Amino acid sequence: MKVRVIMGFFIFFHATSLSMKTGHDLSINDFKLLIPKKEIKERTKQMASKVSQDYSNQRIQGITIVMVMKGALHVVSDLSRALDIPSTLDFVQASSYGQNGTVSGQLSVMGLERLELAGKHVLLVDDIFDTGKTIGALKQELLKKNPASLKTLVLLLKDKPRETKELPDYHLFLIKNQFVIGYGLDYKEKFRDLPDIWVKKD
Ligand code: IMP
Ligand code: MG
Repeated sequence: MKVRVIMGFFIFFHATSLSMKTGHDLSINDFKLLIPKKEIKERTKQMASKVSQDYSNQRIQGITIVMVMKGALHVVSDLSRALDIPSTLDFVQASSYGQNGTVSGQLSVMGLERLELAGKHVLLVDDIFDTGKTIGALKQELLKKNPASLKTLVLLLKDKPRETKELPDYHLFLIKNQFVIGYGLDYKEKFRDLPDIWVKKD
């Protein structure tokens, strides 16, 4: 009898802690399609022409793309291949959300020491400009390395009031202040592999 009660309690406890672990996690059913891959492809082509035009003086030397891992993975891959000018590729890793999911936390950056940018035309690329803290902080760090020029490009720019007035030089899409996933953007490291961009349902 005693054993049964203890076992029953254990099963109940185990089931509750499991549902607590998964209960708050978002699944793809909590999202709806926002930007289909066809639209991303068309806009990337357009943006590549604009960037190539703006850097037409660098037709020989090319530009150095510094991508912010991991979110900028797909946009850099597609954009760099569509440019009419040569580009070399480097990266830093930045994270502010981590396992927090949709809540922004402390920014951590890795891989800055390695970058050699003196005299180079640098394009810093991230997935999304939200508060602007990531791009702002990275820009300060990259400028210390004396690049010939430094511009910023993001896949998505969130339309919201923010402390900084300084916006990225280029953005592919302006979106509402909502949480998005896919095409590089994650929720707790998931969904980066989705070919389209999805937005959290209200
Ligand atoms: P910021 O520093 O507030 O501009 O945030 C930029 C970083 O937060 C991005 O590089 C993303 O990793 C993450 N982030 C901001 N908004 C979203 C979102 O809607 N979905 C997924 N990640 C986001
Ligand atoms: Mg990111």
